[in-house]
Amino acid sequence: MDLSPPRGMQDFLPPRSEALRARAAAAARQAELFGYRSVEVPALEPTELYERTAGETSDVVRKEMYTFEDRGHRLLTLRPEATAGIVRAYLAHAQQLPSPFNVDTIGAMWRYGRPQAGRYREFRQFDLEVIGAPEPDADVEVIAVGDRFLREAGLDDIELQVNSIGDEVCRPAYREELLSYLDAHQQELTDEHRARFRENPLRVLDCRDEACRAVSRGAPKISDRLCGPCAEHFAAVQDGLAAEGVPFVHEPLLVRGLDYYTRTAFEVVAGSLSEAQAAVCGGGRYDGLAEIIGGPHTPAVGFASGLERILVALGNEGKEVEGAARLDCFVVAIGGEAIEPARKAARILRDVGLSTMSSFGPRSTKAQFRMADRQRAQFAVVIGREEAVAGTVTVRRLSDGHQQEFGIDEAAAWILTLREEGSE
Ligand code: HAM
Repeated sequence: MDLSPPRGMQDFLPPRSEALRARAAAAARQAELFGYRSVEVPALEPTELYERTAGETSDVVRKEMYTFEDRGHRLLTLRPEATAGIVRAYLAHAQQLPSPFNVDTIGAMWRYGRPQAGRYREFRQFDLEVIGAPEPDADVEVIAVGDRFLREAGLDDIELQVNSIGDEVCRPAYREELLSYLDAHQQELTDEHRARFRENPLRVLDCRDEACRAVSRGAPKISDRLCGPCAEHFAAVQDGLAAEGVPFVHEPLLVRGLDYYTRTAFEVVAGSLSEAQAAVCGGGRYDGLAEIIGGPHTPAVGFASGLERILVALGNEGKEVEGAARLDCFVVAIGGEAIEPARKAARILRDVGLSTMSSFGPRSTKAQFRMADRQRAQFAVVIGREEAVAGTVTVRRLSDGHQQEFGIDEAAAWILTLREEGSE
């Protein structure tokens, strides 16, 4: 059997799996710092949920959904994104939930796109949402969390781009204006967009092809056509970002690939990634999404950030992708008498918070030290016949061979002290 994973999907093994886990832990920590609660929603939803929210003309719905019929003849789709599912869950339980509902989730998403570096068919997102908040300050906070998360990851070559794409009041007139502009320039568009721009002219602005981009640069800009309340909101978001000290640029051509956005749209673009998949974070406001799926008017804003893409960008910036959790102790048992004391020693070391391994079953001393080495253990905690009789252990610091014999409790305290010193 072919042992490779499905196309566009990856096996994560140490140390990359640990780097991924470290990013997920950092994401959860960042969300907690701002008081966000965690949610888990199903990885599968009725296909209709995404068709209605992402929109019929989005790439996600047109070409990228993993859709299948289950044994009960229900049409289901593996989630291509988390927002629609979280809003569905919020509406289903709104009575019991606080408002605003500030939540985050971390999990796998699936999109059947053409795989390339930074674009996968299975990928993980850190997704954060504020549901039930119309205030520009909510947009500012959401963006600030994303910015902190990416900077803490170690990314330097990134740019936050923000725009406003208006709402149901100002966008229809803009759409008409853009349509007539594109109509006049249709010969310059790519075949795909020439055939489809009438369905949703804003998609052309999102196209990365140079031909479409040239047309887009001359197009009317939505941010110049905002109605009063949208313009006010956008100004407040920009002022708030400046007050928070979050650097940004206004990118008037920025629109998003999903249809549910209103007003604020933003992306964080990494300079080290290739342009077509440079976004390490994307999001915005989606005041109309709850109504699209049958709920009451519920203003909301959020973002999602792709964890794999962050690792790729870090690698491209020449940063070592942190990984390999180091092991504190490897317990080496020499001879039959040492086995029970070694077990006990490992338990005590773990009880004080030291990560500890030992071999399963008896092995030669040499083999056990080799294992300690391979696990990048910092200390070997050795128990031979003498130690077993004396009720002691010999602790050897593997970096320099420095060693000392102790009672196990003292040994644990010594290792903890040395570990603290080493991490300073
Ligand atoms: P999105 O822009 O489609 O937005 O995706 C957000 C992020 O997920 C992207 O910026 C990128 O980092 C990552 N990503 C997307 N597709 C892939 C892929 N094929 N491979 C690797 N990484 C990928 C959303 O998903 C919205 N739900 C964000 C949001 C939340 N808006 C409001 N709330």
